[in-house]
Amino acid sequence: MVQIKSAYPARIARGSVFGSGGHLLSTSTLTPDDVDFLCELASDLATGRANAMRSAGHTVALLFFQASTRTRLGFEVATFALGCQAIGMDDMGMSRSNDRTGESLEDCAAVVSRLCDAIVVRHHATGSAARMAAKSRKPVINAGDGWNEHPTQALIDIFAMRRGLRQLRGRSIAFGGDPRGRTVRSLVQLLRHEMPAEIVFCPPPHIPVPDDIVAAASEHQIRLRIIQDIDMALRESDAIMMTPYDMSDIGEAPGTDYRSPRMTPDTHRITADKIERTNSKALLYHPLPRQDEIDPDCDDLPNAMYFEQVRLSKFMRMAVLDRALAND
Ligand code: NCD
Repeated sequence: MVQIKSAYPARIARGSVFGSGGHLLSTSTLTPDDVDFLCELASDLATGRANAMRSAGHTVALLFFQASTRTRLGFEVATFALGCQAIGMDDMGMSRSNDRTGESLEDCAAVVSRLCDAIVVRHHATGSAARMAAKSRKPVINAGDGWNEHPTQALIDIFAMRRGLRQLRGRSIAFGGDPRGRTVRSLVQLLRHEMPAEIVFCPPPHIPVPDDIVAAASEHQIRLRIIQDIDMALRESDAIMMTPYDMSDIGEAPGTDYRSPRMTPDTHRITADKIERTNSKALLYHPLPRQDEIDPDCDDLPNAMYFEQVRLSKFMRMAVLDRALAND
């Protein structure tokens, strides 16, 4: 349980930042102020400066219809750290809302939201969190819906990158991996408010960067570059957000018949040798799990931020839950 050292900073001691219904379904609805509040609160929770006990005593339902390690355990540990309790099922296949017995997600939300104060949901279908939010009496937090979005991961990424780089304004931020992934979409939508100088993609050959991601960057006059070799990002970028090149475990990507490569092409892999050869100072982030896109020989280098990113994730999840529960 969090030890209270002092009260909330007055600036963030106000209601939920998540708008009507208090749901967090997408990063597209978050304002720069919202992100600042959440980062500030996460930072104060990390240092013990914030009083997280206002949300104590609530019950959070963790509904994970899709595989998860960090997000599931991260929300669980954040729930306990806030003095709340977590409920959920080890196997959502044993719930009534599975493909065989077919209770709708809407009915699932109507039922579960009468037994808890907030719902965290991960599901393989795009739009699943929004469907649940439509029938939920309590805030719904999207913990990944198909190929669509993963807003809490993006908030964690911004929090971790701000801490690593101090500020993102004017920086070069690169993405490795499949640019269609849900973590990428949610993060680019937040990055455009940070005003980096450029966003660089190093996608696998033949995978176009999705139109909505290009539009999000160009609306804010952020330069967009596509490169074919991760060495260039190692040389020129301040941070690289790696994601897997093979995303087939999330299911089939919409709108393309492209199949993920089984292995990351050599030109796209990050290794300690490449970091040394390029004299790279780029900070490496990853929502994890990784496959072979970052070699474990990078783990002890000062560039590697991905495990620190996991440590920080607890505080951002606490901040998100606290804001979601604040209106209760
Ligand atoms: C995601 C996962 O585990 O599926 N990672 C995470 O939540 N930290 C990656 C993803 O959603 O693409």
